[in-house]
Amino acid sequence: MIKVGTEKMKYEKEINRRKTFAIISHPDAGKTTLTEKLLLFGGAIQTAGAVKSNKIKKHATSDFMEIERQRGISVATSVMSFEYKGNLINLLDTPGHKDFAEDTYRTLTAVDSVILVIDSVNGVEPQTRRLMEVCSMRATPVIVFINKMDRDGKNRFDLLEELEAELKISLHPMTWPINSGKEFKGVYNLHDKSLRLFTASTKADDEDVVAIADLSSPVLQKKVGDRDADLLREDVELIDGVYGPLNPADYLEGKIAPVFFGSAVNNFGVQEMLDTFIQIAPTPRDRATSVRKVQAGEDKFSGFIFKIHANLDPKHRDRIAFMRVCSGKFERNTYYKHVRLEKDVRFANPYTFLARSKDIVEDAYPGDVVGLFDTGNFKIGDTLTEGEKFYFTGIPTFSPEIFKELVNKDPMKTKQLEKGIQQLTDEGVAQLFSQFGGNKKIIGCVGDLQFEVIQYRLLQEYGAACEFRTLPFYKACWLTSPDKNKLNDFLRFKQQNAAEDKDGSPVYLAQSEWFLNTEITNNPDITFHFTNEVNK
Ligand code: G4P
Repeated sequence: MIKVGTEKMKYEKEINRRKTFAIISHPDAGKTTLTEKLLLFGGAIQTAGAVKSNKIKKHATSDFMEIERQRGISVATSVMSFEYKGNLINLLDTPGHKDFAEDTYRTLTAVDSVILVIDSVNGVEPQTRRLMEVCSMRATPVIVFINKMDRDGKNRFDLLEELEAELKISLHPMTWPINSGKEFKGVYNLHDKSLRLFTASTKADDEDVVAIADLSSPVLQKKVGDRDADLLREDVELIDGVYGPLNPADYLEGKIAPVFFGSAVNNFGVQEMLDTFIQIAPTPRDRATSVRKVQAGEDKFSGFIFKIHANLDPKHRDRIAFMRVCSGKFERNTYYKHVRLEKDVRFANPYTFLARSKDIVEDAYPGDVVGLFDTGNFKIGDTLTEGEKFYFTGIPTFSPEIFKELVNKDPMKTKQLEKGIQQLTDEGVAQLFSQFGGNKKIIGCVGDLQFEVIQYRLLQEYGAACEFRTLPFYKACWLTSPDKNKLNDFLRFKQQNAAEDKDGSPVYLAQSEWFLNTEITNNPDITFHFTNEVNK
């Protein structure tokens, strides 16, 4: 609990200097490279390549143990905190591997803004679309970094048009590129009217910047040549006419995304974006709960669990629950209310993640992420408070994409299997559905890897052997209807495709898009939801 006077002033200062965000991208667009450059600016790492070595190998799809081992290492880099120009920046890492996409979606519930990296050659890719859907649902402010300008990319106007149409967000160019690929000469900053000339380099601060207040100045020709100077003048005239100055409020409401062009591997255009980011990105935002809005600046502590990481090493069975502080000050060894379990809990060794090492933390402020050792008390969405009873809302689960029946291979271990699958699904490894009117257990995941993880962990941690039988479903939709009888009739009639999720909410399992669309059309009184709230 924050008291008055100097403590309150210090508290407010701490909140106002915090920016908590994530970098998101389709694999290979340059997320890891950009992360590394940002950490170099923040002084959190000294050498290029430091982040890379922790990276999950994207192509090692068959070796889940290797991936888990690397994920284990990546716990330390799950949150990277660094100082930059007086700001404390919490960068939340998101897994690159598509099979862990759910982890990424959940991490997005814990940030206040995102930087979206787009590969200028590939434009919008499948994962980009999904990630932006999650951001749109939450009206998360987005900054776009168009990467790999040193490669022959798409025409810049076409690319912006594609992004706007596919991602359903209005864009606002902050810089403008002069060509791409071998001809790439640099970017013109539309805001401070300076020209940044491209040099392939990995050093942090050696960009060649020229102020060009008036684009008709002969300096421009001298720097980029007649043809490109003319082209830039034309482009800028067009852009100025269309966009005008950026309204930061539109960005904060998630309506407009500022766009930067650059090349992460060459550390070009990165600092420019970071400098704008610290100016405009939101400080810890208010958060919706089941009862009221919680403001970051409130005196009393509150926070929620957005990710649980289990250790696959049998010698270290600890789980780590990642908690985002939403209001007040979190203090070590202090009792807080675990709202769902209605019990008081305290943490002797909470830790924070500073510059790739884990440190015991005495206190943490809104926007910070704290790692809590967990012996099975937490599930995704759990809320901690100083006594008040509410749950943080807006934490969605998404329809899985692969469905399999869980088959018990050892009837003597039925209890262990039950307990194991409950706990693993609490962690968010997978979703559990029970067939309507039957006792078939259906596991839904985003990627095939999770099935291997589940099988391995059930055996190692719970001593329960299982196997999976493939089911012909492609999507799960949560069902609601004002007419309970109609809903029950539908579930009875469609018994083969009907199930309940863990909380007992009815779900329709569709075999194909065609079946799903047919049911949606034939049942106007029933709403089919593609996402579900963890805390309803
Ligand atoms: P990800 O985390 O989004 O999956 O992408 P990552 O940063 O690993 O980048 C994917 C590949 O793209 C890497 O090459 C990286 O060096 C390259 N890359 C990143 N930024 C740029 C850029 O601005 N221009 C160009 N031309 N390439 C860029 P790789 O060959 O897969 O890995 P590596 O051998 O370089 O480590």
